[in-house]
Amino acid sequence: MKKIYIKTMGCQMNVYDSNRILDAMAALGYEETQDMNQADLMLINTCHIREKAADKVFSELGRMKEVRNIRLKQGKKTIIGLTGCVVQALGEEVFAKVKGLDIAVGPQSYHLLPELVVKYERTRERQIKATFSSEEKFKNLPKMNARGYTAFLAIQEGCDNFCSYCVVPYTRGCEYSRDAADILKEARNLVETGAKEIMLLGQNVDCWHGMGLDGVHEWNLAKLFEEVAKIEGLERIRYTTSYPVDITDDVIAAHKDIDKLMPYIHLPIQSGSDSVLKAMNRRYTVSEYLKVIDKLRKARPDIAVSSDFIVGFPGETEEDFLQTMKIVEDVKYAQSYSFKYSARPGTPASLMKNQIPQSVKEERLYQLQEKLLFMQKAFNEQFLGKNLPVLFIEASKGQVCGYSPYMQNVHAVEDKAVLGQIKNVKITRASASSLSGEII
Ligand code: SAH
Ligand code: SF4
Ligand code: F3S
Repeated sequence: MKKIYIKTMGCQMNVYDSNRILDAMAALGYEETQDMNQADLMLINTCHIREKAADKVFSELGRMKEVRNIRLKQGKKTIIGLTGCVVQALGEEVFAKVKGLDIAVGPQSYHLLPELVVKYERTRERQIKATFSSEEKFKNLPKMNARGYTAFLAIQEGCDNFCSYCVVPYTRGCEYSRDAADILKEARNLVETGAKEIMLLGQNVDCWHGMGLDGVHEWNLAKLFEEVAKIEGLERIRYTTSYPVDITDDVIAAHKDIDKLMPYIHLPIQSGSDSVLKAMNRRYTVSEYLKVIDKLRKARPDIAVSSDFIVGFPGETEEDFLQTMKIVEDVKYAQSYSFKYSARPGTPASLMKNQIPQSVKEERLYQLQEKLLFMQKAFNEQFLGKNLPVLFIEASKGQVCGYSPYMQNVHAVEDKAVLGQIKNVKITRASASSLSGEII
């Protein structure tokens, strides 16, 4: 059997894609390995979102090329390929920019990878495919089995929002929603093969509008939750990412009505300043965003909210930044991701004149992250002495770990027999990044 090694960068969608790539390559007789030295095919599933992410590709590729040389001396051939958003962004240029590459496949074309590998082996000519048809991809992928107790399931791909800083609309294409029948089949299969929790994925998941089971009427996300929740053996449903003002009243109500839908929402605000939001081409004001949070908390008072933030967007003043700091206190986020603005080729924001110096971005990021960590610790500390239902998914060094309904990482000293089960844990310690306690 041949071996495939895949290094995944970027978002959850890329993790999902990597799993599907492994499934597609398994059909060609490739088995996954974690050891690069064993790999006949090495892939990097790339991300283009920030400059740093794209740069990582080059360092990883350097390591792969070294291993390829060592293997060559042992008489073994190695194919090196890139998949993911960098390929889509660069197109044919990828071969000029990234030296030593044999195969390149964009995020909508990876179902064609087996075919390209065979073609490469036959001709030894570089292969590239970077088209924009998500539909064809999803229709041509093999069945997906669960790889653990939690699974990602892409229901929607691409984005029509064109936030002025973001490359995703150019790398993932326009918005595409998969049909309910396809999604439900995949979800059932995931549960039959061991998944207890499914996270439904989309770049803008609230605008999912896939064809319903009657083949005539489209469903919305709330209806999909309802149907996925009926799958026996599935314990938890999550979804990400929500665009703040696209979340519908139905979805908000689902947080009250559907027990399996976890009380957690990732609702990226990006900035706490209306003028920055406008320049970012985000379609909401801070007060509209806060109204959505209010509605969610009315429906589900304990809902945990997380967010993404960008600091140092072109033109961001000290005053704008302080408004971002304020929103963090107002919302009391449970978790957050924060980034320095990174100018990306082809985006409107990269052409804006008023770019912010690196040192200012760094200082603002430092301040913001300190505050976010403080809030996260405060959020976690509320649970000291309380019981939380935890789905245990991993064991290591005599401990088991899993997730609370609010996405907190929870550790306990216990035998791995509890893996795949939800157990009540009495929380005895809390830090910014995790909780620990005793199973009761
Ligand atoms: N579709 C999602 C997430 C997209 S990318 C959404 O709309 O929220 C994930 C995060 O990366 C974004 O939320 C944003 O905070 C960050 N990001 C995107 N482009 C960026 C850029 N050019 N510089 C810095 N951060 C960026
Ligand atoms: Fe990018 Fe904006 Fe679309 Fe999110 S909503 S993927 S940030 S363009
Ligand atoms: Fe990166 Fe593409 Fe995801 S650019 S964040 S891997 S959609």
